[in-house]
Amino acid sequence: MLQNGAPWLDTQGRPIQAHGGALLRHDDVTYWYGENKDGDTYQGFLHRVDVIGVSCYASTDLLAWRPEGVVLPARPDDPTHDLHPSNVAERPKVLRNPHTGKFVMWLHVDHADYTLARVGVAVADTPRGPFRYQGSFRPAHMDSRDFTVFQDDDGQAYLYFSSDWNATLRVVPLDDDYTGVRSAPTDVFTRAHREAPAVFRHGDRYFMLTSGCTGWDPNPAEYAVAPHPLGPWSVIGNPCQGPGADLTFGAQPTFALPLDDGSVLVMLDRWRKEDLRDSRYVWLRGHVHGEQLTLRWQDAWTGTHAQAAHVVTPSPSSRRSE
Ligand code: DGJ
Repeated sequence: MLQNGAPWLDTQGRPIQAHGGALLRHDDVTYWYGENKDGDTYQGFLHRVDVIGVSCYASTDLLAWRPEGVVLPARPDDPTHDLHPSNVAERPKVLRNPHTGKFVMWLHVDHADYTLARVGVAVADTPRGPFRYQGSFRPAHMDSRDFTVFQDDDGQAYLYFSSDWNATLRVVPLDDDYTGVRSAPTDVFTRAHREAPAVFRHGDRYFMLTSGCTGWDPNPAEYAVAPHPLGPWSVIGNPCQGPGADLTFGAQPTFALPLDDGSVLVMLDRWRKEDLRDSRYVWLRGHVHGEQLTLRWQDAWTGTHAQAAHVVTPSPSSRRSE
């Protein structure tokens, strides 16, 4: 059992360092990737920790997490590198490309003042890495800060990114090898100031959770539903219910994983901006009925029925053409 909001320990008894994270299921193992923030916090443009890298943990029950190490480390030797400790590397997400068999990591890379605003891409042959950094870019030359990537059942993947200094959230399809974008982005929410997107599919509907933009401080979550990953997206409202619902239980969404029983594991971060390494995890079971998503506080992530849903691995011929 993992107590929501308490320190979570890995199988070696050390605090899990996987903030702003994501899950990937492969060969009956679930991998948890996230920001290793195990350094001192200091106040710059925002509270920050030097880049250490992206951690990976592995589990078969979503409860006991075995450390797999830092699979994309910082590059302290190269001051010009995106992953130099003086920069920002946030919200890593990993997809397995069914066509190439590669594991592709996307992350938000930035300068300490958040003016670089790019996505970085790294590729590995196994989910445990090591991930080889490919470089960074602005999707269609647009600034990109918080983001997520989502892989649909047909093998087409999408990048959702907060742009125009977080005013507008956009979506763009990824290219065949998942290392670039395919066409011009379209708006999801225009001038709505949403970030921290987490996207999942439930039946024939697509759901997106987001937060407002208040730095490390919590604010009300909101969700939207669409008939297609590109939209149109209809805002439904705050999925949180009960005490603490108005501030997302003190946390911010980062990822959502559909489970076999039809519920959804929603991963959130409860940031501690004065000591970011001590930021906590909140994992809740979301329930979907039609277009309604409900998130209630639970004291612990128990792992009961915590099986990740079967992930469809499409053949190349079933991929949607653009
Ligand atoms: C909120 C974002 O969701 C985080 O990933 C991080 O960029 C903080 N803002 C920085 O304040």
